[in-house]
Amino acid sequence: MAKEKTLFTCNECGGSSPKWLGKCPHCNAWNTLIESVAESSVPAKNRFASLAKTAAVTALADIEASDVERTPTGHDELDRVLGGGIVEGGVVLIGGDPGIGKSTLLLQALDSLQRRWEAAQGAAGKRGAALDMSDAGPPQGAKAPSGGSGPREAGQRGGTLYVTGEESGAQVALRARRLGLDGSKVNVLAEIQLEKILATLDAHRPAVAVIDSIQTVYSEQLTSAPGSVAQVRECAAHLTRAAKASGTAIVLVGHVTKEGALAGPRVLEHMVDTVLYFEGDTHSSFRLIRAIKNRFGAVNEIGVFAMTEKGLKGVSNPSAIFLSQHSEPVPGSCVMVTLEGTRPMLVEIQALVDTGGPSPRRLSVGLDRDRLAMLLAVLHRHAGVACMDQDVFVNAVGGVRITEPAADLAVMLAITSSLRGKALPKGFLAFGEVGLAGEVRPAPRGQERLKEAAKLGFSVAVVPKANMPKKNDKAFEGLTVHGVERIEEAMELARSLT
Ligand SMILES: Nc1ncnc2c1ncn2[C@@H]1O[C@H](COP(=O)(O)OP(=O)(O)OP(=O)(O)O)[C@@H](O)[C@H]1O
Ligand SMILES: [Mg+2]
Repeated sequence: MAKEKTLFTCNECGGSSPKWLGKCPHCNAWNTLIESVAESSVPAKNRFASLAKTAAVTALADIEASDVERTPTGHDELDRVLGGGIVEGGVVLIGGDPGIGKSTLLLQALDSLQRRWEAAQGAAGKRGAALDMSDAGPPQGAKAPSGGSGPREAGQRGGTLYVTGEESGAQVALRARRLGLDGSKVNVLAEIQLEKILATLDAHRPAVAVIDSIQTVYSEQLTSAPGSVAQVRECAAHLTRAAKASGTAIVLVGHVTKEGALAGPRVLEHMVDTVLYFEGDTHSSFRLIRAIKNRFGAVNEIGVFAMTEKGLKGVSNPSAIFLSQHSEPVPGSCVMVTLEGTRPMLVEIQALVDTGGPSPRRLSVGLDRDRLAMLLAVLHRHAGVACMDQDVFVNAVGGVRITEPAADLAVMLAITSSLRGKALPKGFLAFGEVGLAGEVRPAPRGQERLKEAAKLGFSVAVVPKANMPKKNDKAFEGLTVHGVERIEEAMELARSLT
């Protein structure tokens, strides 16, 4: 294939240059030129003229709002974050730390999708008709395959394809054997060249394809190395277009940077329909998958898995897994209820306050460090608790990452408890956002959080006043709830309880 001309476009101003330069000649920004394929040389005027002939507009009311067809993956926790299942033509980007289990989970999911499809094929074969996995025909506007010979009728999608760029086919087979997926009919393609992958997708027309990982894929149209911003952006754009045109659902595995964000251009996240993020402590067996963006479902939903010898297993009732087992209460520990998506979960927050050097350290694991600095300032100013000369370490147990501000009250109580060396009482929990003025603001859906705590046998709760349950509500039996409006009140209450 002849190489297309490439040019370098500035991220900031859109200006272009035929060769790479450190500084954009148009806007003088540094390091913003990214390689891309040059557009065809048809003059802009003619391009628009040819488009005009085919474009037709439709009134919104005349467009049928058909529900998207979803195919459950057979893994309930994964389906939960996907919003019910894989959507045809949908593109999912899944990121996570190295070795956290991305390939494992996707191989398991593909295997169960493949088995379901084969079962559907078998049933359809008896009825004398071929079926697609979702029992639906090809999407409207889907083209018939342009070449190649799939095992299906022309235009039919079905089956699965696992494209591995990081491991050899033998390694994938070894993993499948370890996961107990013997006799799996998942098609495997060890390939990293985009053009070949696109041709294979076109020929085989799988219903679901996994690209593991997008950073290994390269297009021969660009001169930059695989994994570079230009390559990742270009390859993801082509794969997304292929998914939309053919109805094949594509799952892209993405690497993460040292800071834990998805590597590659930010635009990748805009391009795809769903962004999932794997998190968890590699030392603990629990893994969380969080939906950060989802065009077909709710975001902030999380799926919980446990890593076992046989791969990832869903945990359907995760509310108590992020609590450490102390036989007696210890100083510096406070339990909070976090509500991610639809399920409340109890998470233990641990703090250690210790005499520090001339420049004391503030470290947090699973919580925002800037927010910790802010909470320490509020503690000092409004509750008179000074940690200026102390090192402060805060940790959310089990590798869970808490992004919601409802953790504030628990963090502050844990810090005070550690500083004073006094444990909070047994069965104690707290949640609520704390503002800069020292006010305690309500957490969303506080009643649900309290109900979960009562169910798990917690006995004392300190919560924002606006989250107080109604009197005589049976769901909270056994749980004494104290409502507070200010951080001083919360500290005073905690002191009187210990
Ligand atoms: N024999 C085994 N028994 C139990 N768990 C295992 C075994 N072998 C591997 N694992 C688990 O599987 C994990 C590797 O998972 P996987 O290869 O799916 O990760 P990944 O997210 O795809 O990583 P990468 O980013 O390197 O591709 C290991 O970290 C380990 O926890
Ligand atoms: Mg992998």
